[in-house]
Amino acid sequence: MKFLKLAGLAVVALLGQQVEGASTFSPARPPAAPLAVRSPYLNVWLNGRTDGGPSGYLAGQWPRFWTQQVQGWQGYVTVDGKSFNWMGAAPGAPNVDQVSLEYTSTKTTFVMNVDGKVQMSIKFMSPVYYNDLRRQSVTSSYLEVLVKSLDGRSHSVQVYCDVSAEWASGDRNAVVQWETNSKDGIRYHKFYRQNQQPFTEASEVASWGHWYWATGDKVRGLSYQIGADTDVRAQFLSKGSLTGDIDKNFRAVGVRWPVFAFSRDLGAVGSSWTSTLFTIGYTQDEAILFQGKDDTPMHVPSLWKQWFNEDELVTFFYNDYDYASHNCNRLDIRIADDSKAAGGQDYLTITSLAVRQVFGALAFTNTQQQPLVFLKEISSNSDIQTVDVIFPAFPIMLYLNPDLIKWTLDPLLENGRWHYPKNWAQHDLGTFPVAPGHPKGDDEAMPLEECGNMVIMMLAHAQRKHNNQYRSDNWDMLQKWAQYLIDDSKIPANQLSTDDFAGHLANQTNLAIKGIIALEAMSQIADLTGHKDQKEKYTKIAHEYLDFWSVHGINSQANPKHTVLQYDNPSTYGLLYNIYPDKVLGLNFIPQSVYDMQSDFYQSIQNEYGVILDTRGTLTKLDWEMFAAAVAKPETRNMFISKIASWIGRTTTWRAYTDLYDTKTGGYANGIEFTARPVLGGVFSLLALKQ
Ligand SMILES: *[C@@H]1O[C@H](CO)[C@@H](O)[C@H](O)[C@H]1NC(C)=O
Repeated sequence: MKFLKLAGLAVVALLGQQVEGASTFSPARPPAAPLAVRSPYLNVWLNGRTDGGPSGYLAGQWPRFWTQQVQGWQGYVTVDGKSFNWMGAAPGAPNVDQVSLEYTSTKTTFVMNVDGKVQMSIKFMSPVYYNDLRRQSVTSSYLEVLVKSLDGRSHSVQVYCDVSAEWASGDRNAVVQWETNSKDGIRYHKFYRQNQQPFTEASEVASWGHWYWATGDKVRGLSYQIGADTDVRAQFLSKGSLTGDIDKNFRAVGVRWPVFAFSRDLGAVGSSWTSTLFTIGYTQDEAILFQGKDDTPMHVPSLWKQWFNEDELVTFFYNDYDYASHNCNRLDIRIADDSKAAGGQDYLTITSLAVRQVFGALAFTNTQQQPLVFLKEISSNSDIQTVDVIFPAFPIMLYLNPDLIKWTLDPLLENGRWHYPKNWAQHDLGTFPVAPGHPKGDDEAMPLEECGNMVIMMLAHAQRKHNNQYRSDNWDMLQKWAQYLIDDSKIPANQLSTDDFAGHLANQTNLAIKGIIALEAMSQIADLTGHKDQKEKYTKIAHEYLDFWSVHGINSQANPKHTVLQYDNPSTYGLLYNIYPDKVLGLNFIPQSVYDMQSDFYQSIQNEYGVILDTRGTLTKLDWEMFAAAVAKPETRNMFISKIASWIGRTTTWRAYTDLYDTKTGGYANGIEFTARPVLGGVFSLLALKQ
């Protein structure tokens, strides 16, 4: 519907006046638009601009890896002999006019007007298969380019698209090797670092694995070429087709920049759409180096190896496009319907931008029987399996597939049980993709935070899966962490919370309540796993601590009343986002009066773009705002949602969807550019509450 309407608008605009740099954005102009975002190493975005030019336009700037490095991806189109640029920043042709950008949960679609003669629809689709591990494990993404006549006449059209060797290494001096092949009707260029270095990265890009850039071979008018960027692009711009030459001089990424190109002569294009499909992806036999129970680290295989040989992947993924489209539409519609029902169109603006980003931080590995999902803490420090990054993301896992929680926590449980020396829960397992854990206990300690998170997430998983086995199997770990919660959650020691950029603080009210709720959760776990004697103990302590917390954690003299950031410090306050687990777990433990109090208080302290994280500054965390919103009164919930949706369209942040911003300026806070982090799974907080 939307698409037809926009297409119609373009025609009107064309007949009326020239559409100059006047794209529409639906549902909003994203800070950065996801292009190919499926894993930590396939994570390419159209960033916003910082040079004063308008953001959200595909033509004229390079797609970038989440780090900001260019990943050369160039598109040209030639119509009746005149060439235009539709993607990338290579010289040689003027930009097409962009009519619209639309994003959904799985797709970013641009509509272009080319010289008033043809319309292009450029669809980037990164599927999310939350319950189909076979398909989710294939780390590839689609680009479909559709062309049709705009003015009733037929036009001669040639479409060109290349990727550069920049995709294969973050090191511009790394030598890349390549070949071209045709198999089962698919033409593909394969390229990779000559010097494969498993489990290492250069500037966050994997230094091992093979890249595949593919298109249909049995289509009319296909030509291809591999060579230096300027040669290959000039060849297309002057001749409208490629030579078929394959440059044999394997060389460094940055030496006469090798590009891998396809072009298609579509012949005379009339009023019906003509489509060209491209796919881009990579394969790695081994994905993660993980220290499990055994003495030596495990080379954990990529999960696709359970079903495919490497040389089958490119054709499987390419030929799966119809299924993928159908599936992506279904997920887009499901998230749209559910989001609109729970929080209106503004809520959909917030949720749909987060979906690819969350899954783009996950690596699906190991075996069908025992999948392991590894998470990269993208942009903050690339830790692997950070518990307090999984926790903010866990609402989307609860909503789509609670087993994602188990597959993500399993490596932490196994490594922690055998190797971690502390009596609290480990913070992370190392730096992606290497997960040795911290056998010396030298991780970034967030003891109360992580103990609370583990208990809460394990109960949430078991409740939704109606499965007690998980809790029984890990009772020993749970009990150890519960003891830590008993020791520390009443009067929390001077320590970090997940918001570590704010520094250490003793007696954090919001941290204490997480621990106290987790103790109440332990009472349920004890009950369900046949430890009846422990059930009473945990709930008694939880209630006793809650009474203490209510005295020291709430400023009852203030008008309106509110919780404080730090016990007995009346002038402080912040988001009390850690009461959300009480609702998600259905504990009915926190009195409704606390929810109502905070709800009214947030109304009274709102800034232009939201509510501050706490009184140490004007910044906030988007994920925690949405935790707070999910358990607030309807008018407060709507306040958060409308402010955040408006922020998305207006923010001056310009890299992938940040979770940390300033509530007054809407820009980055304190110079910290959190980017593409999976924590934005937390915006599914409302939908995770629905059972
Ligand atoms: C933490 O709060 C408790 C209870 O009010 C108090 O006794 C203690 O002094 C506080 N600790 C710090 C470091 O403020």
